[in-house]
Amino acid sequence: MEKLKINIDNTFNLVSRDEVYRLKDKVQRSLQSLYNRTGKGNDFLGWIDLPSKITNARLDEIEATAKVIRKKIDVIVVVGIGGSYLGSKAIAEALSDQFALFRSDNTNPHILFAGHNLGEDYHSALLKILDTKRYAIVVISKSGTTTEPAVAFRILKRHLEKKEGKEESKNLIVAITDEKQGALRRMSVKEGYKTYVIPDNIGGRYSVLTPVGLVPLAIAGFDIRQLVKGAESMQLLTGTDIDFNENIAALYAAVRYLLYTRGKKIEILANFESKLHYLAEWWKQLYGESEGKENRGIFPAGIDLTTDLHSMGQYVQEGERIIFETVLSVCRTGSELKIPVDDENLDGLNYLAGKRIDEVNKMAELGTILAHTDGGVPNIRIEIPRINEYHLGQLMYFFEIACGISGYLLEVNPFDQPGVEAYKRNMFALLDKPGFENESKKIKSRIQLRV
Ligand code: PA5
Repeated sequence: MEKLKINIDNTFNLVSRDEVYRLKDKVQRSLQSLYNRTGKGNDFLGWIDLPSKITNARLDEIEATAKVIRKKIDVIVVVGIGGSYLGSKAIAEALSDQFALFRSDNTNPHILFAGHNLGEDYHSALLKILDTKRYAIVVISKSGTTTEPAVAFRILKRHLEKKEGKEESKNLIVAITDEKQGALRRMSVKEGYKTYVIPDNIGGRYSVLTPVGLVPLAIAGFDIRQLVKGAESMQLLTGTDIDFNENIAALYAAVRYLLYTRGKKIEILANFESKLHYLAEWWKQLYGESEGKENRGIFPAGIDLTTDLHSMGQYVQEGERIIFETVLSVCRTGSELKIPVDDENLDGLNYLAGKRIDEVNKMAELGTILAHTDGGVPNIRIEIPRINEYHLGQLMYFFEIACGISGYLLEVNPFDQPGVEAYKRNMFALLDKPGFENESKKIKSRIQLRV
């Protein structure tokens, strides 16, 4: 089976191959401490061998549940935020026909998302669409108490109950949450929802291969077996027994760390397939929350190319030299479309006639990599054979393990996210949440002072 490859040659304008290899021991130690569970945050390492631990029986059960629900619905609404929605969103977008909403021959339910923002217009518009559709809800929250999905779920639950009746709506709601704790667990027990557990030792952003990703994706008709298989193959390809030179996750972690120490504080993940836009959003959460702490960490950004060459391209080429770029390069597209000959050739495009659009895209990619490298933006290229479940599984596990190594190279805990609490405390105080009375007084006097 084909596998992901990495090319770091275009970083050697700033770092050398020798320097990368000199990091070998440090990287191996980081990888070893992930596996030995001796590093920071080691109680959140359940994801590391998860792909090889997912049993067929587990997948059978998820597929059976999905099959029953799929028969009843046109739309599956996934309610969650952060790690509780980005993995399934990234995979669903990457694997979907972007115009499926306009096709009547679609046999799979459409997958929609809620509770990943507090947009009133977004949720109002969603309800209007759901008025006309048969739908089910997968509500996902590890803590079971996150405000955004809790608000969306309350609204959607009410809507579904009104539409389907209280009893039938219970068959159309699946909850994925902590085994014992949290409001969502309590509600699920009381209402009798079908539930799945997010293991204690797996944080949100590493949870795509738990029921968090597998259940909604199975309901939406994606091949979760291939996804797991791809991840499992990458688990084997990036283990502690693999040579540093052969271990693509070790190489990626090493070179991006070196670039960071040379002042490259921003990593841009660039795709030449717009279907991968949300893959970059998932990756941004993974790396941003894992590395960005203790005043350290590479800032993860994403661009869609060639689209953004006509906007952000200028900055990347000539702006402040604090950027390096990682290109997701897809070898083969899923379809073929050729540029036709035109007798009049008024647009002067006949030099491209007979070529596939993807040939033009590939030359744009190569031209961009060379231009950016010449402009002082080191480039890492990750080659993906094609966009399917198997290779997405490989890619996501690759990024997860490389992220764990990267966190340890930076000497931070890659598995916590203390910084996300700050806005929550302020929001709760401003909204007079019970238990936040003192904070409410303080924050309100602060606002008055400013006025
Ligand atoms: O990575 C994380 O842990 C977070 O981003 C969470 O995924 C996010 O905050 C949602 O949390 P929860 O699943 O508890 O609702």
